[in-house]
Amino acid sequence: METMTPHCGSWPEMAWPEAVEGPEPPPGKISGRGDTLSAKEFARISSFIHESSGIKLPPTKKLMVESRLRRRVRHTGFSCLEEYLGHAFGPEGKSELVHLVDAITTNRTEFFREPSHFDLLTGKVLPELLRGGQQPLKLWSAACSTGEEPYTLAMVLSEFAAEGGELRFEILASDLSTRVLQRARQAVYREEQAAAIPLRLRKKYLLRSSDPSLGLVQVSEQLRRRVAFRRLNLMEDELAAGERFHVIFCRNVLIYFAKEDQKKVMCRLHQYLVPGGFLFIGHSESMAGLGTPLSAYASAVYRRAGENGVPMERPIPRHN
Ligand SMILES: C[S@@+](CC[C@H](N)C(=O)[O-])C[C@H]1O[C@@H](n2cnc3c(N)ncnc32)[C@H](O)[C@@H]1O
Repeated sequence: METMTPHCGSWPEMAWPEAVEGPEPPPGKISGRGDTLSAKEFARISSFIHESSGIKLPPTKKLMVESRLRRRVRHTGFSCLEEYLGHAFGPEGKSELVHLVDAITTNRTEFFREPSHFDLLTGKVLPELLRGGQQPLKLWSAACSTGEEPYTLAMVLSEFAAEGGELRFEILASDLSTRVLQRARQAVYREEQAAAIPLRLRKKYLLRSSDPSLGLVQVSEQLRRRVAFRRLNLMEDELAAGERFHVIFCRNVLIYFAKEDQKKVMCRLHQYLVPGGFLFIGHSESMAGLGTPLSAYASAVYRRAGENGVPMERPIPRHN
């Protein structure tokens, strides 16, 4: 990392707020009475989380939920989970419920995660879209977590443009969690998190903190301006009428939803694709049995039919 572009002057003052979260506290009681969830409390949280986000929390997730909520208990200064839940679900608790959902979401992500998708994007998808003369290309990272996915897209598309000439693109990145969106906008990462980015791209698109002992990097302004962040709940929120995308990444979030909610979300995303547009899901996820109108294009990649519902060609065998 020592060969990385020197820092720019403006960001070293930036704090590193909740980014270094540390390990989750151990399961079990940590401060005595009221600090584990009764079956009734867990059922209430589970049904609230499901209604508000689509995330399903079977009883096997009880320890995880307790552990994640304890962080929130500490942060808000309540003495135990019981007291915290009394507040969150009480008459004054509406704004805290947003944080409660934030605390429960799983936000694991990384730069260049599932890298074959980015190869497919540059090797097949972008050339095909550009042959159709579709500019500017609009991409949406629909569960973007702390920003690594949309910034990877921005790097990959910027490189494609640098090598292949004219390419105009816009990236929308959204998530349910306000906490991760705040971090995504800051675009500050630990050097280890950036290690998955090829060195050449790190040199080109990352800035180092003026204080190297912090071990932090920030995505360059040039790249950050390519990504617009928005809070959106895939289960509820509508995008602006007429907003359509050539490529949607909705990876590693379906797995947290029940089957009927997966179908609902996929059918909704289908409507936000231009005819012939592409939808990427995580490799551990599946559309099998959901009955959506999308056709398989490649491994964990689906495609909307063309104009007038004409199926698009699928040049890549399904097992690729
Ligand atoms: C595991 S991360 C995946 C991040 C990235 N797409 C990737 O593959 O690396 C899942 C993200 O989905 C978000 N999420 C969960 N339910 C959601 C919903 N109903 N609407 C929007 N985002 C949601 C979570 O907040 C979390 O940041």
